[in-house]
Amino acid sequence: ETPWLVVPAAGQGRRMGADRPKQYLPLAGAPVLARTLQRLHLAFPRARLCLCLDPEDGRFDPAWVPFADWRRVPGGAERVDSVVNALMAIAGDAADEDPVLVHDVARPCVTVDDLRRLHAAVVEDPVGALLAAPVADTMKRDDGAGRVRGTEPRAGLWHAQTPQGFPYGLLRRALAAAAEHGVAVTDEASAVEALGMAPRLIGARRDNLKITHPEDLALAELILAAQAA
Ligand code: C5P
Repeated sequence: ETPWLVVPAAGQGRRMGADRPKQYLPLAGAPVLARTLQRLHLAFPRARLCLCLDPEDGRFDPAWVPFADWRRVPGGAERVDSVVNALMAIAGDAADEDPVLVHDVARPCVTVDDLRRLHAAVVEDPVGALLAAPVADTMKRDDGAGRVRGTEPRAGLWHAQTPQGFPYGLLRRALAAAAEHGVAVTDEASAVEALGMAPRLIGARRDNLKITHPEDLALAELILAAQAA
């Protein structure tokens, strides 16, 4: 059973401060977007892909898509709107129980092994799952003025990564309910959680970095080189 893949890639990546959206910056000789799609394709060569792109995007090149079955979907104002557009676009083809994995274009270092473990968990669990890593640093809360108000216990805290995967019908229902009730969702799992469900945490490698800030690009190159060694 091969999953549906939704890759939101319609962001502007303003925190990078680069001359183009981060998915088009070069990473080890290819655009970030191409690297991320290559990883997904290695794990799921027969998956069907929905790629969310800004309709005004003039940089995208379809030659970067290794999948035989894929479609381009217009991005929305926020990440969640891009994902909802993708889910609507496949409504006629996806069955409610089909697993859908949502993966940020900005995470090119995700490994095939983590992708397959996540997919296996999503196939077996009706409320879905996400890749995540336990928090290693001591967590401080600020007082709003640059000083420490207190230390948060880090036991039981995780960094949420992507992919996050859910049955198609559940994910659509969760995102619709979140929109209706004004629940802020920065990932898919939070929408499912708002329905009172508990997606499974799949312990993932810590090097599934999200390229966000300028220094992340050099780190991602090192990670890819180390993974290939
Ligand atoms: O900016 P950030 O890294 O949080 O974006 C996460 C992902 O969501 C990126 O892959 C980005 O391209 C995507 N995105 C999107 N549509 C938006 C905003 C972000 O597809 N409107």
